[in-house]
Amino acid sequence: MREVETASAEETEAEGERVGRTLKRGDLVLLVGPLGAGKTTFVRGLARGTGSLDHVASPTFVLVRNYHGDVPLAHVDLYRLNRAPELRDLGLDELLEEGAVVIEWGDHIEAPGAKVIAIEPAGGDRRLLRIE
Ligand SMILES: Nc1ncnc2c1ncn2[C@@H]1O[C@H](COP(=O)(O)OP(=O)(O)OP(=O)(O)O)[C@@H](O)[C@H]1O
Ligand SMILES: [Mg+2]
Repeated sequence: MREVETASAEETEAEGERVGRTLKRGDLVLLVGPLGAGKTTFVRGLARGTGSLDHVASPTFVLVRNYHGDVPLAHVDLYRLNRAPELRDLGLDELLEEGAVVIEWGDHIEAPGAKVIAIEPAGGDRRLLRIE
């Protein structure tokens, strides 16, 4: 476990990039933290770390956004999605066969073996990141 405090969105993105460089096909990352904590910001770095130059945005109107890097990355947001049938529709197993997967509001699912990353507001622009 690694704890790091960031003081800007750029710093959080840089931490995401560090983690992204370590991702392999089949890795599942769960992001936990309140509204506006910086989960999507972290994913922006994560995607860069996998070697993707794709635009990263919240998958608000689609279930999954796919980024094309050296390791394919699927981006899921469970904010409006906590009913079991919809979770099944995600096809998580298939996504993990294709690449790595990152899930915002990841505490909405149970996934043993996932890497959990918590982002906590720490006053102003500061955030405390707990990286498993
Ligand atoms: N240290 C920081 N780390 C991350 N984001 C920060 C930081 N300081 C300020 N911010 C700002 O906080 C906001 C975080 O928004 P972001 O969409 O990443 O959060 P989120 O957790 O994905 O929100 P949601 O719960 O709506 O999905 C951005 O506007 C970002 O610029
Ligand atoms: Mg978000």
